[in-house]
Amino acid sequence: MNPPSLGLVRLTLTDYRNYAGLRLDLKARLIALVGANGAGKTNLLEAVSLLSPGRGLRGAAFETVGRLGGSGAWAIAAEVEGTTASHAIGTGWTPSTEDGEAPQARMVLIDGRAQKGSGALGHVLRMVWLTPAMDRLFAGPAGDRRRFLDRLVAGFDPDHASRVSGFERVMRERNLLLADVTSDSHWLSSLEASMAEQAVAIGAARNEAVATLTRHIDQSRATTSFPWAQLALSGDIEGLVSAMPAVRAEDEYRRLLADSRKADRQAGRSLSGPHRSDLQVSHGPKAMAAELCSTGEQKALLIGLVLAQAEALREVTGEAPLLLLDEVAAHLDRARRQALYERLRALGGQVWMTGTDREVFDGLGEGSAVLDVAAGRVSEMDRQ
Ligand SMILES: Nc1ncnc2c1ncn2[C@@H]1O[C@H](COP(=O)(O)OP(=O)(O)OP(=O)(O)O)[C@@H](O)[C@H]1O
Ligand SMILES: [Mg+2]
Repeated sequence: MNPPSLGLVRLTLTDYRNYAGLRLDLKARLIALVGANGAGKTNLLEAVSLLSPGRGLRGAAFETVGRLGGSGAWAIAAEVEGTTASHAIGTGWTPSTEDGEAPQARMVLIDGRAQKGSGALGHVLRMVWLTPAMDRLFAGPAGDRRRFLDRLVAGFDPDHASRVSGFERVMRERNLLLADVTSDSHWLSSLEASMAEQAVAIGAARNEAVATLTRHIDQSRATTSFPWAQLALSGDIEGLVSAMPAVRAEDEYRRLLADSRKADRQAGRSLSGPHRSDLQVSHGPKAMAAELCSTGEQKALLIGLVLAQAEALREVTGEAPLLLLDEVAAHLDRARRQALYERLRALGGQVWMTGTDREVFDGLGEGSAVLDVAAGRVSEMDRQ
């Protein structure tokens, strides 16, 4: 059997949600987790997702994912095999021992070395996921789409996430300063300069990632079994960045911030900036805004978008990302499902899928393994 081009060859969980202790040796590229509702399938996917920057596919608070009945501390470790290098990565969290102490950040280890934050994981392992909670991505709040967009951008440019959080930190500082009527305008100007610099970098990275993805979609749309997505970014920063050189865009946004201090003070927040941008998605073949499409159409569009994202990442980085597909296969008819599996095989990276029924994963083909999940334990059902 071929080793995965990029993927986990071992995964260990300690006191993570309903897993007291789990050690999985993995040889397959396409991994299907099968088990009853509440068995621990999504928990396992979530644990894998925490091997990337951020809070994982549920956006969970670290103090809530420790196993109930345990100490609250948890750990996830993995060996990652790529085409060029292998790494041992791990992450974990321990509750504060003192009352009133600030909550701990999670610990991140890469090849035995402690990292400052989870950002470095983005350089080791790229990951793309699709979960049932994302079914409302197109019709739901813009913030969800912006986070989806920023994760997508961070796949192409792993430093993007820290720029976004850096911008938000400075923006919060400016908001606080604005709330104080005696605020120092020099200090405000310096915060606004820092916001402008980061905003332009964020806008440029978003524009570039959307352009890259759009190019890939344009090339592959004739052959795809899922509807292709038409993407557009709406946001004042993205608009400025595409209309003028970065230094001028920075000046423009800085001026805008200085001019809107009064309005921002009244609103209690910054009214313009990359934190207000949105990703607009249309169903390409129907030329219809995604949010106006049927539930099934939106789902198919989203699957197509996520697959395109994974393929574009492979083109740019030379390695397919890890793909986590929670409850995706069961919602597809047989033909679409087989088309999905074919596309996943062609992608060549490691894919983790979940489902309640074994039959859904018939036809996964060579390089696949079906794992049975029950009450926080995992065993191999069969391998091809
Ligand atoms: N911190 C925790 N400690 C112990 N158990 C937990 C914790 N958090 C969640 N669980 C439990 O873990 C179990 C498995 O959850 P999970 O979401 O992984 O199920 P699933 O296999 O994906 O089920 P479904 O098919 O319904 O999606 C649930 O019963 C849930 O209540
Ligand atoms: Mg689940």
